[in-house]
Amino acid sequence: MTDITQRKRDHLDLCLTQDVAMDSLAGFESYAFIHQALPEIRRSDVSLETTFLGHRLKAPILVSSMTGGPVQGETINRNLAEAAQRLGLPMGLGSQRIAVERPEAVASFAVARQAAPDILLIANLGAVQLNYGYDASHCQRAVEMAGADALYLHLNPLQEAVQPEGDTDFEGLEQKIAELIRQVDFPVLIKEVGSGISPQVAARLAAAGVAAIDVGGAGGTSWSRIEAHRAPGSRALGEVFANWGIPTASCLVGCRRELPDLPLVASGGIRTGIDAAKALVLGADLVGLAMPLLAPATRSADAVVAVLEQILLELKTAMFLLGARDIQTLKRSRHLLIEKS
Ligand SMILES: Cc1cc2nc3c(=O)[nH]c(=O)nc-3n(C[C@H](O)[C@H](O)[C@H](O)COP(=O)(O)O)c2cc1C
Repeated sequence: MTDITQRKRDHLDLCLTQDVAMDSLAGFESYAFIHQALPEIRRSDVSLETTFLGHRLKAPILVSSMTGGPVQGETINRNLAEAAQRLGLPMGLGSQRIAVERPEAVASFAVARQAAPDILLIANLGAVQLNYGYDASHCQRAVEMAGADALYLHLNPLQEAVQPEGDTDFEGLEQKIAELIRQVDFPVLIKEVGSGISPQVAARLAAAGVAAIDVGGAGGTSWSRIEAHRAPGSRALGEVFANWGIPTASCLVGCRRELPDLPLVASGGIRTGIDAAKALVLGADLVGLAMPLLAPATRSADAVVAVLEQILLELKTAMFLLGARDIQTLKRSRHLLIEKS
């Protein structure tokens, strides 16, 4: 088994068997909605439909990127994609580096488009690979092998820093991302993986031409903690940094203020439809979940659908209780969200 295959297997095993969540939450707990006892709408009339990057979605909920390695990855991707297709939701693939480097791993990603012919599907590579020999052709390959509509480049300096084998040369990446965007004809989105994107970094990425930013904030899965489980030694670097990052809600507020018009995705610690509703009010156009879908994805598409349907029901119920008939109205409901003191 190659290093990269073993690493993915370790990650997956740890995510499925250990508590790898951060100790602190994503920041949505600091906000409360003002309940509307007279919502003046019917719950059955509430619509979750929306658009993102020109794609029509049944709801603003994203199946966030998760890599599963070449072995379990195929099952996970098939189940996630089938669930996304059934519910009309978008999906991000996990990092495709393994398949860019090893053709035998391509099938485990191509399976997503086969199972989900109609969804907005987003390919995925680590941005730092642009400093390790990758260029536009590798990104093109990731998009093509997946039949994807767009590409996520993930930024994960913390994860790389706490990995013994991490790629930690992040010098000059901003320039390389800008160059890449000029060279390719598909939308390039940027995401963090749980440490968050600040308003200042978001502004630099927007200037580089990214189509959207997924703030990937702190409060959910801790990649630093996952790596700590893999590292020998009692005081692993990863455990010290387990809670490092900007909470998702703070990222969202700051990035939206800085960039009023850029499409934003909220992910990192979104666990209920109420979190999702708060994220939408605070400026997200789309809300992503990863970890809550992982264990179900190892079982069946039905299991993934069940978790997502529950989130959709919670979001719809919150909208009913706020008198918001549709997503546009919800996003204009900032006056109904108060920050707890
Ligand atoms: C098992 C697993 C694998 C992941 N793999 C990737 C990946 O390959 N690329 C990526 O951009 N993010 C990856 N992520 C990060 C998620 O997309 C997400 O940003 C992060 O887990 C925070 O969301 P959560 O708190 O809902 O899990 C992964 C997450 C999990 C749990």
